[in-house]
Amino acid sequence: MKGIILAGGSGSRLYPLTMATSKQLLPVYNKPLIYYPLTTLMLAGIQDILIITTPEDQPGFQRLLKDGSQWGISLSYAVQPTPGGTVQAILIGEHFIDHGTVGLILGDNIFYGEGMPGILKDSSRLTTGGLILAYYVQHPERYGVVTFNDEEQVIDIEEKPEHPRSNWAMTGLFFYSKDVVEIAKTVRPSPRGELEITDVNKHYMRQGALKLRLLGRGNAWFDTGTHESLLEAANYVAAVERRQGLMIACPEEIAYSMGYIDAEQMQRLTENYRKNSYGSYLQRQLLTKKL
Ligand code: G1P
Repeated sequence: MKGIILAGGSGSRLYPLTMATSKQLLPVYNKPLIYYPLTTLMLAGIQDILIITTPEDQPGFQRLLKDGSQWGISLSYAVQPTPGGTVQAILIGEHFIDHGTVGLILGDNIFYGEGMPGILKDSSRLTTGGLILAYYVQHPERYGVVTFNDEEQVIDIEEKPEHPRSNWAMTGLFFYSKDVVEIAKTVRPSPRGELEITDVNKHYMRQGALKLRLLGRGNAWFDTGTHESLLEAANYVAAVERRQGLMIACPEEIAYSMGYIDAEQMQRLTENYRKNSYGSYLQRQLLTKKL
């Protein structure tokens, strides 16, 4: 399976923070935001990833993430000339997807929890239809809202409804089979002028081919589109990391634990950060038993 991260968008809700840089390059505590969705895909076992950015922000992402070989993965880049919705990521990525399966993640989504690596690996084994993940939230009206029956079959998905029929928000992580590009081509702009991913998912739903995975209470899901949510996510990451002395979304550590890089390469990577706490953390990961 290949992966796509959608890191375009104007980020206007975060102005002036995002007037000179991309939202996905902003810090979430001690790492750039994009590290979180990137490592989510890495934990799913995905090693070939396309990063879609605005034309002006692309050099910043390339400076930060390079071609991925340092982490044993392959990163390529494409631009979204003007923001027009999540479905554009699939259309822009058509040749990259190349009739295969794909995991698509929104660049501002953060997932964390004990069961996550297993859920991600499982999800990436999808061969037909689509798969969405839903999370119980207090304010579902801000999201795509999923309604499902007792068998956990999706009955409806409504994009930012005024009167949500459930508290289950559709997260920004989707797994699709090879027909997704053809489905994406049939989507027309919504009232807010965007090509909504909800319409792709509803297409699968109508075919009875949309799987649903509910993320239980032991998981954390954040989207970081506002100042408050960005701060909340940073505080969460800081609290967990400081309590345990273990990092969330550290690409070097994950590459090493997934076997994408060996100890020698890990050692080389630590040298980039010699004099700071990030470097000493990487050094510790080399020496301690994997958790
Ligand atoms: C998008 C989707 C929405 C989903 C959300 C998750 O919203 O349209 O259904 O719940 O991502 O982050 P947007 O970020 O475009 O407002």
